[in-house]
Amino acid sequence: MKRVRKAVIPAGGFGTRLLPATKVIPKEMLPVVDKPLVQFIVEEIAQAGIEEVILITGREKGSIEDHFDSFTELELFLEKKNKPDLLELVRSLSKMARIVSVRQPYPMGLGHAILCAKTLINDEPFAVLLPDDLIISRTPCIAQLLSVYEEYHQPVIAIQRVPDDETRNYGIIKPQTVSDGLHAVLDLVEKPLKDAPSNLAVIGRYILPPELFSRLERTYAGVGGEIQLTDALRTLLPTTPLLGLEYEGTRFDAGNRAGFVKANLFVGLQNPEIREEIVSFLKDLDIGGTIK
Ligand code: G1P
Repeated sequence: MKRVRKAVIPAGGFGTRLLPATKVIPKEMLPVVDKPLVQFIVEEIAQAGIEEVILITGREKGSIEDHFDSFTELELFLEKKNKPDLLELVRSLSKMARIVSVRQPYPMGLGHAILCAKTLINDEPFAVLLPDDLIISRTPCIAQLLSVYEEYHQPVIAIQRVPDDETRNYGIIKPQTVSDGLHAVLDLVEKPLKDAPSNLAVIGRYILPPELFSRLERTYAGVGGEIQLTDALRTLLPTTPLLGLEYEGTRFDAGNRAGFVKANLFVGLQNPEIREEIVSFLKDLDIGGTIK
């Protein structure tokens, strides 16, 4: 069984759900408190021991690469101002992981974005992390999937139970339970409008086999006119069993406004430097009757 050494971050989309903020600022660079979304994802990858990050980008996405590059003028400035903590913080970004990027000429769906990484991955298993899905957990979510991959020698995707009326927003699996929280994926369907096979939704963390690429090449546009990863995965099922793990952690859909605000509150409340101030602010809001 080959080790997972590479992780793909699809970041080529327009982020329309967060316009106007995302007109020129990549969605992935929007801060959750003081850290861009994409940095949470790169840290998750690095903590799981995956060495290389493949960013799938597009126009106006250069700041993502800059964020993980060195910045000599800023470093010299911080050194001169005697700010060693900030200097270390800035320097650590360029050491976090080996990052390469590929341009997706036009956002044609998640499946198409992943296909753009084909020549950089070749015949190895690889991870995919969607930056919209911010997951705060004790063990990084992708590391939880890697443990399952190493134990069962099978590709595995993250899943989470969602309310019935939300199944239309996700890929949904038809599960057969293997053990507590672990399921064999018997089938999966992208954003079912009715007859969802369960309420177990695919969340944006995947450990995938290289055989996926040839399937993606033969996948036609599906839901939303886009080439869907879910559709390609489905065609793999007869030959390549797939597992779904109900991971431990709190997940935010940071690509929509409410999810983005919740993520900021949650992360802010975890930060000892600002926690008290936020709690007291929220309490005052409540007293004023703003929170019902
Ligand atoms: C993508 C996937 C979907 C998955 C979701 C998780 O959809 O296509 O299967 O459930 O991510 O966030 P998107 O939300 O990008 O439309």
